[in-house]
Amino acid sequence: MERREIDGRTAVYGLMGDPVEHTLSPAIHNTMAELTGVNLAYLPFHVPAGCDLGAVLKGAHALGIMGMNVTVPHKKAVMPFLERISPEARAAGAVNTLVRTETGYEGYNTDVLGLSENIAISGVSLTGKKVVLIGAGGAARAAAYLCGRDRAGALYIANRTPENAEKLKEEVEAAWPDLPVRTLSLADLSSPGERDLIAVQCTSVGLYPACDRAPVTDPAFYERLTHAFDTIYRPEKTLFMEMAEKAGADVTGGLGMLLWQGLKAYEIWTGIRADQDQAGLIRSRLEAFLKEEG
Ligand code: ATR
Repeated sequence: MERREIDGRTAVYGLMGDPVEHTLSPAIHNTMAELTGVNLAYLPFHVPAGCDLGAVLKGAHALGIMGMNVTVPHKKAVMPFLERISPEARAAGAVNTLVRTETGYEGYNTDVLGLSENIAISGVSLTGKKVVLIGAGGAARAAAYLCGRDRAGALYIANRTPENAEKLKEEVEAAWPDLPVRTLSLADLSSPGERDLIAVQCTSVGLYPACDRAPVTDPAFYERLTHAFDTIYRPEKTLFMEMAEKAGADVTGGLGMLLWQGLKAYEIWTGIRADQDQAGLIRSRLEAFLKEEG
């Protein structure tokens, strides 16, 4: 694999957010550019919270920046400044990928597409399944969209703050009237209930360095699961996944979601879909970066 020189034709892409110091996105995109022989460079742009995002996008456009990822805290705030917003980004209420047009930028949400891919490559289909979402924030919204799109059989939203679960329920019901939705408290998950559930862990509980925490601690809950997905990738195996695995469920961590949100953005920008070897190589680079960071 040879590193391409930056020259007068190099297309510039990047990530805007605050902070951006620990981002793994340059590793994904610059490696894909090397692997696929595309003349692009991907850079971090520190855009502080509270910035005039209209001015930022105008400047980026004037400089000819071809596309950007958008991360915390701008995923929602950037939306009013876009020319078009894709259906999954609208449903998720957030944009994480921008594509340049003649006159501005279009917005996509590859967190949704990355989660979708991570579920699909685990051999799981949501169609007709009972799905429990733990959490009701941005990641849960992405998962809820997939439950509607893929026609899940039923959706349970369990969250610490009941009002946030109710709000997400109302949004899902408005978008997918045929999908039965119920809200629960986290404590409700410890009561006996339905089995053969797919769980998607969408809270920040268990995230490094608080790795000894899980949003549900009752082992009986995990016995009701066939598959457990975590959206956290640091640590690579969370306590939630360990408990689910111990109870006999198949488990998938968030690293694949991170990998595929990047690869989907790359695909939107270049039209090139990563093959298995490329995805595997980049995944091992991400694992190495995460190990280095401790
Ligand atoms: P993201 O975009 O990563 O989903 P978010 O929108 O801030 O982040 O959502 C975070 C989710 O984690 C929420 O569901 C939040 O619950 P609340 O709605 O009650 O805030 C959940 N969460 C965060 N910390 C938690 C904790 N200590 N215990 C339980 N749930 C927690």
